[in-house]
Amino acid sequence: MRMGTGVSAMEETGAAIVLSGVSLTRGGRPVLQDIDLSTDARRIGIVGRNGSGKTTLARLICGLIAPDTGTVRIGGVDVARDRRAALRTVGILFQNPDHQIIFPTVEEELAFGLTQMGRTKEQAQAAVTAILARFGRAHWHDAAIHTLSHGQKQLVCLMAVLAMEPRVVVLDEPFSGLDLPTRMQLTAAFARIDAGIVHITHDPDVVRDYDHVIWMDGGRVAMQGDAAPVLDAYVARMTALGAGDDLSHLAG
Ligand SMILES: Nc1ncnc2c1ncn2[C@@H]1O[C@H](COP(=O)(O)OP(=O)(O)OP(=O)(O)O)[C@@H](O)[C@H]1O
Ligand SMILES: [Mg+2]
Repeated sequence: MRMGTGVSAMEETGAAIVLSGVSLTRGGRPVLQDIDLSTDARRIGIVGRNGSGKTTLARLICGLIAPDTGTVRIGGVDVARDRRAALRTVGILFQNPDHQIIFPTVEEELAFGLTQMGRTKEQAQAAVTAILARFGRAHWHDAAIHTLSHGQKQLVCLMAVLAMEPRVVVLDEPFSGLDLPTRMQLTAAFARIDAGIVHITHDPDVVRDYDHVIWMDGGRVAMQGDAAPVLDAYVARMTALGAGDDLSHLAG
């Protein structure tokens, strides 16, 4: 699946992720420190412990927050500065669909991002119809979102992101709380996504066949590269930590 390296591949996918010297402080504490990333891998996994900075990194990649120092460029777009271009470039699927959904009906939710991007109402409606048909959910068009299950809401969020045809889709632990069939169906949907994927997960097996894996630890990149060596080192470290009985880290 790897698209290869070099400038031509980056231009081809437009999905190159380049972070240079990125640091971020929140509440007086460093949350991310000295992050340097440069990859044109099509499918990227991010693993790391609770509080290691994965979600913060995801929000930076989408341009939802700006770094204190350094730059974040996705497909050549400075996502923190150029918000309109960022909307076309990167979409994010949060862990909890209830944090993402704002509108009462599926149609309104799916149309919102499209009109934000500058599409006309007619164009947005056509795109909404098309994405619902693509996922075999045309009958959801007028559905009240609160009547959908957690997994169904997650699918609505995924469709909302994909309708905008971003070059990169960031998935922040999209499987939590989902049953196995739903998880398998979403995995199949991810595999069909015609965009770069940045997938945050606690399950190493989910990203084992990905092209590049980043292990975050304490706000820094502990290790990155091909999936197998990074995940093997990560699992070995997590297993060693898990064998201990010190839960003091959960105090924050
Ligand atoms: N706005 C904020 N104010 C204060 N601290 C913050 C803020 N945002 C993040 N942090 C801190 O930054 C650290 C990293 O948080 P983040 O949510 O990125 O971790 P994570 O790797 O996604 O964790 P999890 O696996 O639990 O989702 C945590 O210690 C968190 O408390
Ligand atoms: Mg998180």
